[in-house]
Amino acid sequence: MSSEGHCRCTQIEEESLYTELEKILEGHKGRGKDLIIVLHKAQGLFGYLPRKALEMIALELDVSINEVLGVVTFYNFFSTQPTGRNSIKVCLGTACYVRGGPGVLKQAEKDLGIKDGETTGDRRFSLGVVRCIGACGLAPAMIVNNDVYGRVKTTKIMEILEKYE
Ligand code: FES
Repeated sequence: MSSEGHCRCTQIEEESLYTELEKILEGHKGRGKDLIIVLHKAQGLFGYLPRKALEMIALELDVSINEVLGVVTFYNFFSTQPTGRNSIKVCLGTACYVRGGPGVLKQAEKDLGIKDGETTGDRRFSLGVVRCIGACGLAPAMIVNNDVYGRVKTTKIMEILEKYE
């Protein structure tokens, strides 16, 4: 605890991740061809790719930051946003769309205080959209981690989400 009473644990944890990244980068100095391998390792470390990490990678591998950003945005398995412990995907495939999917998404955004593609400040939830999860008969559907929920009512979303820590 600092004198203001705030815990510095998260900050210390983050600093140690950057120290780990430095160690990883030592083995790839000046080796631009290792970019994708290094990005995978960095994402494994942080859970996503923070801007500061991308800048360190660009510097050490001797590639431009634009090149690094180009690779990160090209491959959808890389993410520059922190992801939550639980992933919510609201289905907006045709069947779900016509049976209230957009309303489910809107309510989930409102309940969680985030938009599609974002993560809550406590990293508990990430919210996104999918196009059909094969449960069209249960439209509108949503999926939380690996659990499928059908005929989702906007009034029940928070009740569903309460189970997920
Ligand atoms: S369209 Fe939503 S499950 Fe198929």
